[in-house]
Amino acid sequence: MPANPFYHRDQYAADLAQQLLKPTALQVQVRSGVFLSGIRRIGKTTFLRQDLMPALEAKGALVIYVDLWADRSKSPASLVHEAVRTTLSELAAPGTKLLDRFKGLNVGAAGVTFGFQVDAVGKPGGATLGDVFTELVDKVKSDVVLIVDEVQQALGTEEGNNLLFALKAARDAVNTRPNTPGHLLFLGTGSHKSLVADMATRRSQPFAGAVSTGYEPLDADFVRWKHEQLQQLDGIKLPSQPVMYQGFLAVGQRPEELQNALVLLQSRPEPPDMAFPIICTTLAAAASEVDIATLESLGALACAIFDRIVQGNESGESGLFSADAINSYSEQIGMAVDTPQVQNMAARMIAANLIHRQSHGVYAVADPFVRQVWRQRKTMQLPGQSSGAGDMA
Ligand SMILES: Nc1ncnc2c1ncn2[C@@H]1O[C@H](COP(=O)(O)OP(=O)(O)OP(=O)(O)O)[C@@H](O)[C@H]1O
Ligand SMILES: [Mg+2]
Repeated sequence: MPANPFYHRDQYAADLAQQLLKPTALQVQVRSGVFLSGIRRIGKTTFLRQDLMPALEAKGALVIYVDLWADRSKSPASLVHEAVRTTLSELAAPGTKLLDRFKGLNVGAAGVTFGFQVDAVGKPGGATLGDVFTELVDKVKSDVVLIVDEVQQALGTEEGNNLLFALKAARDAVNTRPNTPGHLLFLGTGSHKSLVADMATRRSQPFAGAVSTGYEPLDADFVRWKHEQLQQLDGIKLPSQPVMYQGFLAVGQRPEELQNALVLLQSRPEPPDMAFPIICTTLAAAASEVDIATLESLGALACAIFDRIVQGNESGESGLFSADAINSYSEQIGMAVDTPQVQNMAARMIAANLIHRQSHGVYAVADPFVRQVWRQRKTMQLPGQSSGAGDMA
């Protein structure tokens, strides 16, 4: 029997679905939108598709999922319109799976008829998203959840911005009606923490006031599940569960890196519990080399700023532009720098997803894992570098 490829988190999905669809008086803010962020490759998309969508559907919602990275040649707006049109067509045609779900319960077997032309949605002269979602909620008489993965992709272009404003207008058109049979819920996710969080918190953003929260990475239960699955294989070398969990943490809670480490372990002669931590640390360092190379390509000032954030509080560093900080950068790079230069560089580091803005004036390293590797590197390099003496031999 093939191994089950995914570890499911039914409870996490059910909790999130409950909050979205049946918010308590304290949670109603979710109706303004929810933004979920987390570092790269930790299973966000898998969770959305394998766990959250089924959980939302089990509670009766109609879910539309769009990945803005699905096709880089298409604009965010056309990807969203395409997904909306696909859903509408499925509801309009008899015999589709989606229609089957709503058939009898809310709509007739022949399919839903819409008061606008489905093919024209998103095209000049076509119905607006506000019209579309209002009618959709009225026809299926339930909540509609629009999930936009890699939502930060809609930022930075006029077309993307217009899309976000149109979605916000649709949200308000549906949700502000006193007797609406359902709500339009917007869930945006992405790996660019700063940008995704900004979308919910910056006043200039259409979704200002929405909920911004972190995706929960896979935990010890995932490692136990993986361990139990692998134990079924004959002749496999496996670390103990606690060692495997520590290794998983060391590779930034990334399933693929854990898998790589386990594969590498098979060709190591040492006892698994001894070899595994070393393999994980090595893999971790290799993975963050990419980010560190990006940082170094931005130059010495970027490295000095990054270093200050790394040395600071893990939950965020605030004194990035203080007089003391500016002096220290100048000293480290051997050249005078001013505040605008530092601000400009910090903005470039945010754009490169190396650091992110936690809140006003507070910055943190985007990938906690790169932070750790940078620290290890500094401890190894310090004696040679800070003395400035080239006489290592
Ligand atoms: N619950 C899970 N069980 C098993 N494997 C998983 C699980 N979640 C994620 N993975 C594996 O981890 C890898 C990354 O997952 P996924 O693409 O969902 O992450 P992501 O955070 O969306 O990444 P990206 O930043 O690239 O969008 C994939 O190879 C996926 O198969
Ligand atoms: Mg993803």
